[in-house]
Amino acid sequence: MTKEELLNKLKELNRISSKLELSSTERKEVFESISGYTERFISTLDSSRAFSQKPAGRLAVTGDRMPLAEILDIYQKEVAENGINAASGKHLGYIPGGGIFAGAIADFIAAVTNPFAGVYYASPGAASIENEVVNWLKSVFSFPAGSVGCLSSGGSVSTLIAFTAARDKHRVKNEAVRKSVVYLGEQVHHSTQKALRIIGLEDVLIRYVPLDDQHRMRADVLATQIEKDCNRGLNPFLVVATAGTTDTGAVDPLNDIANIAEQSRLWFHVDAAYGGFYILTSRNQLFNGIERADSLITDPHKGLFLPYGVGAVLIKDKASALQSNYYEANYMQDAAAEELILSPANLSPELTRHFRGLRVWLPLLLHGIEPFKSCLEEKLLLTKYFRIRLAELGFNMGPEPHLSVSYFWYPFEQDTDQKNRQLMDAIHHDGEVFLSSSVINNRFVIRVAINSFRTKKETVDRSIEMIERCVKDIK
Ligand SMILES: Cc1ncc(COP(=O)(O)O)c(C=O)c1O
Repeated sequence: MTKEELLNKLKELNRISSKLELSSTERKEVFESISGYTERFISTLDSSRAFSQKPAGRLAVTGDRMPLAEILDIYQKEVAENGINAASGKHLGYIPGGGIFAGAIADFIAAVTNPFAGVYYASPGAASIENEVVNWLKSVFSFPAGSVGCLSSGGSVSTLIAFTAARDKHRVKNEAVRKSVVYLGEQVHHSTQKALRIIGLEDVLIRYVPLDDQHRMRADVLATQIEKDCNRGLNPFLVVATAGTTDTGAVDPLNDIANIAEQSRLWFHVDAAYGGFYILTSRNQLFNGIERADSLITDPHKGLFLPYGVGAVLIKDKASALQSNYYEANYMQDAAAEELILSPANLSPELTRHFRGLRVWLPLLLHGIEPFKSCLEEKLLLTKYFRIRLAELGFNMGPEPHLSVSYFWYPFEQDTDQKNRQLMDAIHHDGEVFLSSSVINNRFVIRVAINSFRTKKETVDRSIEMIERCVKDIK
């Protein structure tokens, strides 16, 4: 290719590739259109169903262009109106959060400015924003200043990071794996076992510790089991407590478990993915002992009501956290001189990563902490209110919950499990409000998880009306 041919080719490519940079006018048009769409979405949330389901269609990428209006139309029909409406306050299943608008704004700014947030050298400001969020989390959970941490995509990846540090600290590898023991509560979240599997620990021995009548791990049984395992020549190395289980919202007796872990030299991990931020409420005494954990995970996309895709992990032992995640490479040599923990990438499996620090930092600065605290406190009281209203209708309720997840069933005279299953189906079919189910103490139960910033007293009233409607048809 001659120089002239090359210049002509570049001109031609530029004519087409420049379309990726919208003009100022186009950006304004797009922005107005998106803003109109999101306004309509938010302002009709109250009247939209929380659940409906049809197979997804019309979403194939063909390589052809499509006007934005048409894209938004497809998005509305195929995504926004299909499945669980997780932005709705009427989503009371699994663990909701909602997704506050300030988080979306932060994501927009992060995406437009696109700093390389994983490495301090590349963006001291973006890396520091994440580090300051981690520092704030350390203060929330009374972790020492010397502990380290990072933001992840969510609870599952945070668990992976924490367990890898535990594995490395306790040198659980090769033949040591089969002799090592992990202790889990019976209602532990499945991301726990999944993380063990992913990090090469699927052959460890897992002991499921039974729960008491409030669904908390029985510390006395844990202590006895560890002693038995030691006597058998095994290597107990990790105990996982949960501060807010998914099934029932129970907070394990953290101080008791910390005592046992300390005595037996186990790594003490706390899964506070859902419940962690309730430490900011009047129930904070339930969390006594959380500060003694070796590692802790918590999910701002649950307890701070941020859009999905942001979890956090705190680890006390800096060396173990760095061991698997820090790597030297020639092409990274310019960044090598800096303090390792300034760069989130050194504490996480991700190098290039979403600048998720901004979606935590910006909302906390914009709103201050008080609305978050009030919102969490409100969820606790709404759960109480929900239970009072259901009990008035003759439902049986699980024990008084620690936090904002509870469960119930209707005491049909016959085939109770099957009829409650039918009730769950009827609730899903109605779809105005979304609830999910579980099996607790061998009983089919319906769960309510009140954790969306948009769930209000009126939402609870509408849920009760709906449940009443559905149960009448089955009786
Ligand atoms: C207690 C608990 N731990 C861990 C997780 C996993 O978190 P994520 O879905 O963010 O990966 C969840 C999710 O609901 C959870 O409730």
